[in-house]
Order: sequence, then C-alpha cells, then structure tokens
Amino acid sequence: MVNLSSFAICLCTISAGVFAVTPELYQRAASDLNKRQSITTSSTGTNGGYYYSFWTNGGGEVTYTNGDDGEYSITWVNCGDFTAGKGWNPGSARTVTYSGDFNPSGNGYLSVYGWTTDPLVEYYILESYGDYNPSSGLTLLGQVTSDGGTYNIYQTERVDQPSIEGTATFNQYWSVRTEKRVGGNVTTANHFAAWEELGLSMGTFNYMIVSTEGYESSGSSSITVE
Ligand SMILES: *[C@@H]1O[C@H](CO)[C@@H](O)[C@H](O)[C@H]1NC(C)=O
Repeated sequence: MVNLSSFAICLCTISAGVFAVTPELYQRAASDLNKRQSITTSSTGTNGGYYYSFWTNGGGEVTYTNGDDGEYSITWVNCGDFTAGKGWNPGSARTVTYSGDFNPSGNGYLSVYGWTTDPLVEYYILESYGDYNPSSGLTLLGQVTSDGGTYNIYQTERVDQPSIEGTATFNQYWSVRTEKRVGGNVTTANHFAAWEELGLSMGTFNYMIVSTEGYESSGSSSITVE
C-alpha cells in the first residue's frame, strides 16, 4: 500500500513538473529534488557528514534519498537486489545508534552492514527483516548477547557474487537478532569479538552503514543514523 501510493505521488510530481505552466514551478521542483539528492543508480559519497553507499543491480524501481545529517529514505518497487544507507568509511568497533521505519513487503533486511578486505568479508548485524530470514538453512555457530538482545551467528560462502572488489568469492558473517527491532544501539565490537572467537576473521575495514536491503520485493524505509 505504502509503495503503491508513494509511486503514484512520484508520478504526479513528475507530471506536474513536465506540464506546469510556469518554468519557475518546474525549476523549484527540480532544485528541491537536488537538495534531497534522490538517486536511482549506484552511487557512493558523503552527505550530511556521513558516508553513504547505494548499490543496486538495476532491477525494478529503487529510489534512494539522502536526508539531513544521518537520515536517508528509500522506496522500492519490484526491485532486483539493492543495499543502501548511511554510516562511515572505514567502519570500526563503535556504538551505532539508529532509529526510523522499515517497511518491507516481501524480502528485505535492515542491518548494520559492512565489508572488510584481506580477507574480503561482507557482514550483517541483522536488526529486522521481511518475510525471509536469511539464516534459513545455515548452521548456527554461536550466539552473542548485546544491546538488550540475543543474536544468532552464521557464516556462509558467496561464490562469484558482486562485492566491493568486483565479482568474487568471499564469506558472509551474520549476527541475526532473535527479536526483530527497528531502532537502538548496536555495539559492533561485541559482534566482531564474537565472530573472531568463532574463527570468523575480519580484515581491514571498508565502509559500514545502517543498510536497507531489498531482494525481489517492494517497500520503504526511513532511517536516521547518529
Ligand atoms: C545508546 O547508548 C547511549 C550511550 O552510548 C545511551 O545514552 C543511549 O540511551 C542508548 N540508547 C538506547 C536506545 O539504548
């Protein structure tokens, strides 16, 4: 519902811009858009004092918008695969405080998400998800208690998949919160230590964001990172 109505609003705005009588109106709409930095193709940079990353495989309609400071919002309709959000580059052992809304319709993940190199690792501290738990079928390696919750730990190998070093084979590490939530503190050090203890080695930190990810789904999110 949310997605369909946002999409309709979006179309209306575009029509108003194209068919408006005064060029002024059109220009004002265009400059508002620029200020909000709506993006529909893969992009990285800094905005509001935070690093942002938006990666999409190009499927469906995904609109990523940088808001003020640590805020961002995303709407997606019948997406392929995308992951996007604000955070830091490089990531680190720190307390990540975030809040907002996460409304996937179908398969979606909300996580503290990042990469290391040497070894190349893609990691997720999964706070909430849609109708698919990505740890389904994986072997439970251990648990970590942190920030008022319990997280189950998993590892999986990704073969010839997209990565920050192009198509590669690498490991994914997962901490999956047993009770979903949207908002709170995530003490990343607790997860990194628990993973290391289980032999899941981290490399050199690359970016780390509070990510909204969608996979062949629709939805919306609006997240503020502090
Ligand atoms: C997050 O941690 C800060 C201190 O680092 C604390 O002041 C704050 O209350 C915490 N927030 C939540 C939601 O636990």
